Amino acid sequence: MDTKVYELINDQINKEFYSAYLYLSFADYYEEEGLKGFANWYEIQAQEERDHALIFRNYLHENGCKVKLTAIDMPDKTFSNYLEPLEAGLEHEKYVTSLINDIYAAAAEAKDYRTMKFLDWFITEQQEEEDTADTMITRMKLFGGDARTLYDLDQENAARVYNTPSPLANA
Ligand code: FEO
Repeated sequence: MDTKVYELINDQINKEFYSAYLYLSFADYYEEEGLKGFANWYEIQAQEERDHALIFRNYLHENGCKVKLTAIDMPDKTFSNYLEPLEAGLEHEKYVTSLINDIYAAAAEAKDYRTMKFLDWFITEQQEEEDTADTMITRMKLFGGDARTLYDLDQENAARVYNTPSPLANA
């Protein structure tokens, strides 16, 4: 595998674990605020991010490349209202999209068509994650100011269940 493509993928393992850590910190915030549904939603999101890390890890193994795990940064965000984690989530997903795009661009440069194909799933996933994050912001702005509708939002988020992402389910 091209060195730059390899290094970006190996770094992405760390970035995805950081995403898991970041979303766990969001879950902690909501848990402490008594919004257990939102806490559940972000706990599951953290699981999905861990899964993303594993998908990249597996891809390196499948291609005979060494996995080098590195230290995960501490999530350092503090929040003063229920909207802020949601906005930070959208901002973070846009950043992750840019990272995936960077890997794709490096793979294209290296004519690494296999990696480009592998990344297709992540490109679609990032579109969905940005869309979901945006919807959560809109709904919080619309309904978060009223205790009863906030309760309903929290109940909806409590219903989220974990599903193994297809690249891991089929691994
Ligand atoms: Fe792994 Fe939320 O992107």
